[in-house]
Amino acid sequence: MAEELNIPHTGNKKETYEAILPQIEALIGGEKDLIANMANVSAVLKEAFHFLWVGFYLAKEDQLVLGPFQGPIACTRIQYGKGVCGTAWKQSEAIVVPDVDVFPGHIACSSRSRSEIVIPMITDNKVFAVLDIDSELLNRFDKEDLYYLKRICDLLG
Ligand code: SME
Repeated sequence: MAEELNIPHTGNKKETYEAILPQIEALIGGEKDLIANMANVSAVLKEAFHFLWVGFYLAKEDQLVLGPFQGPIACTRIQYGKGVCGTAWKQSEAIVVPDVDVFPGHIACSSRSRSEIVIPMITDNKVFAVLDIDSELLNRFDKEDLYYLKRICDLLG
């Protein structure tokens, strides 16, 4: 395992994702433990993009329970269908929220969050976790983030 990440800080999002993808593959490729891999993926995404919050929630019965993350303390449990995370779980679809203030039922774990993206992670047609990322910038996430973050989730799945 490499000891340090090699992250180009050029401000080019695509370039950064392309640089971290193989490093994530190498980092988690030899490890089967999901929690350990989620922890390292959170760290890579936080270091690469300096998001406010990056982390995972794991589906347990009718709730999402906080998993590995990087950033400020967060809500520990989210009900099925509630907030952005619970809605992405219910719909089995990724959600991009350009402005959290206009998302009905958004759960504000941090008042600094302005936009958010949630990717459900699915195995055997069942959501087993979600990747949640919060930014202090409005409208921070787009199709490019969606594309690459889904690929990163596929690596974990
Ligand atoms: N905003 C999320 C809650 C989780 S925190 O952002 C870490 C939601 O509405 O589901």
